[in-house]
Amino acid sequence: TDTGSDMPREQGGVCAEGNLHGLYLLFNAEEQAEPTLRKVLAEIAVWLQASADQNADSAFNGFVAIGANYWDTLYPGARPQQLRPFPSFEQDDRKAPVQPVDIFVHIRSDRLDINHIAAMEVCHRLKGLVQLVEEVRSFRYLDNRDLTGFVDGTENPQGSHRRTVALVGDEDAGFAGGSYIHTQRYQHQMARWNSISQKQQEDTIGRTKVDNEEYASQDKPLTCHIKRTNLKDADGNSMEILRQSMPYGDMMEQGLFFISCCRTPVHFEAQLKSMIHGDGHGHYDHLLNFTQAVTGSAFFAPSLDFMEQAAG
Ligand code: HEM
Repeated sequence: TDTGSDMPREQGGVCAEGNLHGLYLLFNAEEQAEPTLRKVLAEIAVWLQASADQNADSAFNGFVAIGANYWDTLYPGARPQQLRPFPSFEQDDRKAPVQPVDIFVHIRSDRLDINHIAAMEVCHRLKGLVQLVEEVRSFRYLDNRDLTGFVDGTENPQGSHRRTVALVGDEDAGFAGGSYIHTQRYQHQMARWNSISQKQQEDTIGRTKVDNEEYASQDKPLTCHIKRTNLKDADGNSMEILRQSMPYGDMMEQGLFFISCCRTPVHFEAQLKSMIHGDGHGHYDHLLNFTQAVTGSAFFAPSLDFMEQAAG
């Protein structure tokens, strides 16, 4: 239906508000599957959108994203202007491993069973076209906290500003309504984190733990996480991203499945570089002394309109 807007319809999961449960499916495509995959992926994106309407009571949402290294194979006709592989940063024992994946299906709602049903449906539709590389189930922990015990997402963009931050606009009209997606699965060293004092933990983040209050500027260590990630560009504008991260884990390993959605890859890349390489004076992000990324992938989540048109 024509809403009277020129903006293509985005996939609802990109900017959705937080949920209780997430389910992430990462796939690699079979060779020669492209013509069928273009069609099936568009149908899955439309189905996720329809399911969001049908399951509004559990705040269901989702999106499909295509890996940077697979994009040209799937859609040889056109490429988002800034789509590029996950950046490779490494210094001392700090590393951001890169694991290119072809397809990312992001499913979330406030019901574990609804997510499970949706994932079954997605896998059923993709049968024979892909191999499942990784599945991660994430959950809300307490009042939106990471497993470190700190509230995560406080400085995320709010309300309609989420769309401004996360969705490509007129600057790349063919891909308007799409979003650059970066994922990293972090594994926390919980015993090590719990062995330091609450004050040391707070100095590592740059906020207080229980009340989640931001440190005053003069009290923020140059090595704290929010100092290293709150960056401005050359014109003094905040380099914002929309974080959709959630905790995951079992009794074997625990951590954060980090997800950034943005209208440009530049902001995430600059933040990750600042965490690992620091400020040029040895001030890297000390959160990385307690958690390590074990995967890292770059995707683009196109608009529903792009996916339907490209499916032919
Ligand atoms: C802020 C946790 C990784 C970007 C925060 C906050 C916490 C947190 C507790 C403060 C509250 C808030 O504003 O959300 C974590 C954990 C991570 C992680 C546990 C990994 C294990 C990352 C990565 C990036 C990132 C990889 C980007 C490359 C940001 C940004 C902010 C933030 C932009 C807001 C800074 C501000 O403006 O104050 N994170 N984070 N985080 N994080 Fe992370």
